[in-house]
Amino acid sequence: MTDRRYAVFGHPIGHSLSPRIHEAFGRQFGLAVDYRTIDAAPADFPEAVHAFFADRGHGANVTLPHKAAALALADTASEAAHRAGTANVLTRLEDGRLAAHNTDGAGLVRDLVDRHRVDLRGHDALLLGAGGAARGVAWSLLDAGVQSLTIVNRSSAPADALADAIGEPARVHTRYWEDLADIGSYNLILNATSAGVLGKSLELPTALVGARALCYDLSYGTAAIAFLAWAKSAGALFAFDGLGMLVETAADAFELWHGHRPDTDPVYAMLRG
Ligand code: ATR
Repeated sequence: MTDRRYAVFGHPIGHSLSPRIHEAFGRQFGLAVDYRTIDAAPADFPEAVHAFFADRGHGANVTLPHKAAALALADTASEAAHRAGTANVLTRLEDGRLAAHNTDGAGLVRDLVDRHRVDLRGHDALLLGAGGAARGVAWSLLDAGVQSLTIVNRSSAPADALADAIGEPARVHTRYWEDLADIGSYNLILNATSAGVLGKSLELPTALVGARALCYDLSYGTAAIAFLAWAKSAGALFAFDGLGMLVETAADAFELWHGHRPDTDPVYAMLRG
């Protein structure tokens, strides 16, 4: 259907790459995708979503700071969204109800495994952060087979809550942020904090970076610069930002809405270029 509308909700949202990504995916199938950004302040978000879906809206991506609110206003949720407590995709069902989904974890794993050729089963992962972004990827990393997952958050309670929710004490551990210098080294370090987005840099000990380590920032662009610079200076073999994850999560949304699986590689290359 050509009159269906798509959008990404955020605040701020002007910098979003999502319209370019969805338009490029659409061109692969001869579809002219009507996809726009919608800037909604938190107080206005529920009304803006309902107005969008009442007026030909078929699917929406949701980004900061609305991911928890998106799950809360949906009528149904996928297991991934339910587990994460957040949603990055909203879809209008045939009967008009709204379905929430979270494609962050699947997108991260596809970027690591398919694009960067990482065998996650050989990795001890350190997850920095325990907010929405961290919850969106934790289960997927475990499902993909990481040997262990150590969660460290600036405040300890969210890390403990996430480990409890996962309920795999043999593989999932928490440590205190203050102890980061003494918790050993890891060969997969993921920055899922919002520090970069907030313009702050993390003070991280270089001892965290193990031999042949891969460091990954879930954000991209300027928000990822400080963490990736730290990773390289600490001797990481690989340092990736989350641009590939963004394209992969978008591909899942595109398939949900249009029923076609787009080829992500040319779109990733276009954005890198
Ligand atoms: P998001 O959806 O991006 O995950 P969030 O749910 O607000 O946003 O979570 C932000 C995460 O970044 C939290 O883990 C937060 O730590 P706290 O729970 O202690 O607040 C973390 N974070 C934000 N700024 C940080 C900083 N300067 N140093 C360390 N962690 C930070």
